[in-house]
Amino acid sequence: MVSGGETEELWKEVRQGLQRSPPTLPPKLFYDARGARLFEEIMRLEAYYPTRTEIEILRQHVDQMAERAGPDVLLLEPGSGSGEKTRLLLSALESPVAYVPVDVASVQLATFAQEVRRDHPSLEVLPVVADYTRSFPVPRPRREPRRSVAFFPGSTVGNLEPPAARAFLAHLAEETGPGGGLLIGVDLVKDPSMLEAAYNDPEGVTAEFNRNMLRHLNRILGADFDPAAFEHHAPWLEAEGRIEMRLVSRRDQRITFRPGLEDEPPFHLDLPRGRFLVTEHSNKYTLQGFRRLTEAAGWRTVETWTDPNEWFAVQFLERDP
Ligand code: AVI
Repeated sequence: MVSGGETEELWKEVRQGLQRSPPTLPPKLFYDARGARLFEEIMRLEAYYPTRTEIEILRQHVDQMAERAGPDVLLLEPGSGSGEKTRLLLSALESPVAYVPVDVASVQLATFAQEVRRDHPSLEVLPVVADYTRSFPVPRPRREPRRSVAFFPGSTVGNLEPPAARAFLAHLAEETGPGGGLLIGVDLVKDPSMLEAAYNDPEGVTAEFNRNMLRHLNRILGADFDPAAFEHHAPWLEAEGRIEMRLVSRRDQRITFRPGLEDEPPFHLDLPRGRFLVTEHSNKYTLQGFRRLTEAAGWRTVETWTDPNEWFAVQFLERDP
């Protein structure tokens, strides 16, 4: 559900993106209830290596990660909790003071917070309903933490453009405060065929996830997309260092948006056959490239863990006390 004010803000953002060349849609629109379920399915796909590779790295090295974080920390997680990964980390940390997941999806957030409370009865769980890319107040736990450590797994940082990723990492440095830490997962540059396979799975789940954004737009912004009239395509763009999720128009078509806002006439988008919409960038990094990015945001790399193939990395970063 979105309120009138939220619809207006979202419509502004969507309209602006559609006026770009190529027309671009915000990836956050993937995640309605069906999109969230499809993403869960993606994470279990054989071709989608990032999730299981990162979980394996965590399983292998979580004790060292917990040692880097130290005892009595406040663990801050932008996003409504990443299930197995969060559980692994929380179980390894030495007497953590509080767990603070931050997300706009209040229902998922409350459900996950309940699960964590059940598994860790002595841990204070303090969910915050907020857009984690903006400034938010970190609640004060009853016991004073030694430091704050943010956890940002999944290579979600790759879905931000590098300048926005830098701004977001700098914002996390602010939120964790002096002496703060950051445990972050990042997907690494690798063989293009493997990257493309991960985003063009033979089961067609990623294609469905991609097209689901159009259904979501039909529902919340009064668009009239026919999802079947779009083909999913996710090429690796070597020069840009990213996978680009696209929806290619299968025919000449006109899409109309009627967002239902006062004084807002219908908006038309003409798409000739072969023209595509961009729905997401998934930037991949080399270890050096990622170090440049995090350093520019005020973080120092303390330790890096990877899988034997160096497909994925988890890093512990620190900011100055
Ligand atoms: C959430 N994010 C890290 C995923 C990724 O790999 O960029 C989203 C995704 N898009 C298609 N498949 C998965």
